[in-house]
Amino acid sequence: MVLSSLWSYSCLFVLWCPVWTRVVSVGNVTESCPFFWPWQVSLQSSGRHYCSGVLIHHRWVVTAKHCNVRPKVDVVALGLHDLRFSPAQTVPVDKVFNLPQDGSFPPKSDLSLLRLSVPARFGSNVSPVCVPEEDEEPDDSWHCFTSGWGAAAGRADVDPDRLHHVRLTLVNQTSCRRRWGGGLISDSHICSHAASSSSCMGDAGAPLICQKRGTYFLSGVVTWGSRRCDADKPAIFTRISDYGSWITEVTEDN
Ligand SMILES: *[C@@H]1O[C@H](CO)[C@@H](O)[C@H](O)[C@H]1NC(C)=O
Ligand SMILES: *[C@@H]1O[C@H](CO)[C@@H](O)[C@H](O)[C@H]1NC(C)=O
Repeated sequence: MVLSSLWSYSCLFVLWCPVWTRVVSVGNVTESCPFFWPWQVSLQSSGRHYCSGVLIHHRWVVTAKHCNVRPKVDVVALGLHDLRFSPAQTVPVDKVFNLPQDGSFPPKSDLSLLRLSVPARFGSNVSPVCVPEEDEEPDDSWHCFTSGWGAAAGRADVDPDRLHHVRLTLVNQTSCRRRWGGGLISDSHICSHAASSSSCMGDAGAPLICQKRGTYFLSGVVTWGSRRCDADKPAIFTRISDYGSWITEVTEDN
């Protein structure tokens, strides 16, 4: 079953990095191998990158609601490593679906689903990540990463046009609430150590990807708090497993 999924580029797609690739790390920030994260997309407006998103299906991308994606105007660039080059595919956003808001600030449901106007073509540079079930919660045995453009903005030794990633360790709710204040962190958030630069990736909508036994899951999406570059404060992600039924509902009904 796994093998047939691999051939059809399901989310069980195996990642590999060519041995000849030069890997550049600055602190904990590593320049990713081109297309190592084939679900990572760039949301663009008039040719400019403004947020990241994550491909979960050939018609659907997940991002942060606060990216304010404009349907029929903004595009999704797929199969992209260096923002100075052309992406493998560029697809207009057809429609944006937002989680119902409860009016709280900071928003507790900072998630949008973007429907693509034409299906993405899967291949070695473009393929989806798995969406976790409710019981697939990352713990210390998982390996988690965030990836994005604009890494460690302002550091001369990091090229912000190229996709970078950072390995992250997760912080439990108790510690996270202690750092941020209880009212701000809900059970629908996942926190990670700031790991110096992770909170300075400067890229809203970027994914928290967690891997177990070779399968990569979209565990979270960067939300508020992540752009302050405060090394003492955990980075905060919207917990995707909490919204699994909403994602299934929207993607099946539309
Ligand atoms: C890298 O991350 C670890 C924790 O994940 C942290 O202790 C260390 O200070 C970081 N290194 C740099 C250079 O920021
Ligand atoms: C949360 O993490 C802190 C710091 O690592 C630890 O001391 C504490 O026991 C953890 N709490 C729970 C409930 O796991």
